[in-house]
Amino acid sequence: MRILIPSETASGETRVAATPETTKKFLELGCTVLLEENAGKLSGFPDKAYENAGAEIISSNDAQLWRSADVLLCVQSPIKGSLSKLSTSCVMVGLLSPYGNQELFENLRSFKLSALALELLPRISRAQSADALSSQANLAGYKAVLIGASNLDRYMPMLMTAAGTVQPAKVVILGAGVAGLQAVATAKRLGAVVFVSDIRPAVKEQVESLGARFIDPPEIDQTPSENMVYAKQASEQFLKAQRQKLSDQLSEADLAICTAQVPGKKAPRLINEEMLERMRPGSVVVDLAVQQGGNCAGTIAGQTVNRNGVMLIGASNLPCSVPNHASTLYSRNLLSLLGPMINEGQLDLNTEDELIDASLICLEGEIRCPNSLLEGA
Ligand code: NAI
Repeated sequence: MRILIPSETASGETRVAATPETTKKFLELGCTVLLEENAGKLSGFPDKAYENAGAEIISSNDAQLWRSADVLLCVQSPIKGSLSKLSTSCVMVGLLSPYGNQELFENLRSFKLSALALELLPRISRAQSADALSSQANLAGYKAVLIGASNLDRYMPMLMTAAGTVQPAKVVILGAGVAGLQAVATAKRLGAVVFVSDIRPAVKEQVESLGARFIDPPEIDQTPSENMVYAKQASEQFLKAQRQKLSDQLSEADLAICTAQVPGKKAPRLINEEMLERMRPGSVVVDLAVQQGGNCAGTIAGQTVNRNGVMLIGASNLPCSVPNHASTLYSRNLLSLLGPMINEGQLDLNTEDELIDASLICLEGEIRCPNSLLEGA
């Protein structure tokens, strides 16, 4: 089995899908690893390190070697021109952004490829070590707080100095999934007082165990996510009531970290213009949901906007700002997923396995996922 690791081409992407560590492990499983030259450079892994681990370094123009690959491990899907170089039996594995991604499905169909989208792995215990959404969201939550703190006009911790005492910063975190909980832990370590809002009542206990205070969801008909792993999209009536609850908290906040999302849907709008009017000049909003439409009005992906003194940071793709650890963890996720499928150096795609069944979006050009996912609805 020949595994190809391409240089990532998506704008701003700095990660790589294999490290020298995982390269070695794949070789032990009887595979050959082909690395496109400089693929690990931006994550701090030079070609030499891969060579020492046993990989073959290949030139970007070597279409023949691309054609010989059985598996392509990527972070994001390569562009059409690169996919056209793969052979029809090749299996692509990565964070493929499948929701409503017509271009991806068109490419998979026309080049008769197979593809595993890591976003669709079920959130079950057996899949934990392969859970790339979690490993990357953890980094995003951590980095969001550091960015927020470094843009703040105040200290984070309470400090008693000869010039008097300053109060700790107040941080409001919206969404307590993986990124949100890591943001809570990081903000607590920096000494802030932390408040958290989520619509899954089950997270209250997790939030409180980290020393933060939970803002209960509004009591409107049914909470949209009782006993569910993922949140469901909330009604506009629910969101209106939630914004009312959050408005007072945000008017006293120094930093808001926005991580609330519903997979495959537009992110809930939790901070509107009116609420921004009430925030203090000098406060900061870091919006991790910006690429899904944003939790906060006025945030723009990859940009910082000063809105009457409130700094709005559109923090898209934060794991790319920590590429060495992001790649280390991501590549281990891939090894965990694929390792058990490799038998005597061959990949066995058993569609009866629940991890493969859920994430295999295309098998040799045949799309095999629900229409709702294709449409991004
Ligand atoms: P996500 O990125 O899809 O969403 C982030 C958070 O936003 C979620 O907690 C969600 O409830 C919240 N949210 C949605 N709408 C909201 C609103 N209107 N207001 C406030 N918050 C809102 O979530 P992520 O990080 O992917 O985690 C999803 C779930 O998967 C969580 O329950 C997590 O505990 C679970 N999980 C389970 C794992 C396992 O058992 N293997 C591993 C990782 C996560």
